[in-house]
Amino acid sequence: MEEANLLTDNPALYEARFPDPQRLAGRWTEETLRSYGSGPRVLDLGCGTGRDAAYLQARGRTVTGADLSGAMLRHASREHPGPEYLHADLREFDLGPRRFDAVVCLDSALLYCRTATETASFLTSCRRCLDPGGLLVAEMRNGAYFLGRATFSEAPSVHTFTHRGVVHRSVTRLRVDPAARLLRRSRTWTTDDGTPPVEQSSAWRLLLPADLRRVLLTNGFQVLALHDGPGPRTEPPWREGDRPAGTTDADRLHVIARLTDD
Ligand SMILES: C[S@@+](CC[C@H](N)C(=O)[O-])C[C@H]1O[C@@H](n2cnc3c(N)ncnc32)[C@H](O)[C@@H]1O
Repeated sequence: MEEANLLTDNPALYEARFPDPQRLAGRWTEETLRSYGSGPRVLDLGCGTGRDAAYLQARGRTVTGADLSGAMLRHASREHPGPEYLHADLREFDLGPRRFDAVVCLDSALLYCRTATETASFLTSCRRCLDPGGLLVAEMRNGAYFLGRATFSEAPSVHTFTHRGVVHRSVTRLRVDPAARLLRRSRTWTTDDGTPPVEQSSAWRLLLPADLRRVLLTNGFQVLALHDGPGPRTEPPWREGDRPAGTTDADRLHVIARLTDD
């Protein structure tokens, strides 16, 4: 079921809150696909506003963007045309006869698979639509970073920005739930236009690098690279020509895996 979420229900607000004017995520993805020799057909799962899908399409790829949010898909078709946009649940999907050379899954979308079963089902679905030798490129929060801090309780992060003349303020709290292996996020939104505050919560799976490697191997993928940066959401962020670190400790994880033939 689609969760109510102020940002995914308001894609323009999402882009205002998380601007990417230099298309860093798209550029990182394009360079990764190119350096691993990917063919042109790309599926962007959890494509959100479509800005990365459209960037890849503009680089000459044939892109399909898929998302659970109807609001995101409508925004993507309108504001970032070019790719085909489809409604799909990344935890289990079947896109019929469509075949891809790569699946990309950015900004922790893969972690909406909140159990081991859902992650395996996601990989089964990827296998179904990838041609042999196809790539999986994903970028996400790193479970090792958060689980390594057993008492993790970061101070709330406060962010203020103006969108269409209205000042929006978000207060975000992250909490590790070790029993459920989830990183839980609660966020309070307030505005200066008299709208009542909105409380929202979400959760991502806390996936350890070793667990990610294992689930990929057992589902027919060879891991080509697994590292904590630099990437589009690391600090400092990735720049063209940067080589990946050999570590997997920091808060973002990047994985490139290839579907094996057997
Ligand atoms: C953090 S946004 C990432 C958007 C985009 N990939 C980016 O990097 O800007 C997460 C996206 O995943 C989508 N999403 C969440 N759960 C999903 C699911 N089960 N299947 C497909 N998309 C999902 C949300 O609707 C949202 O658009």
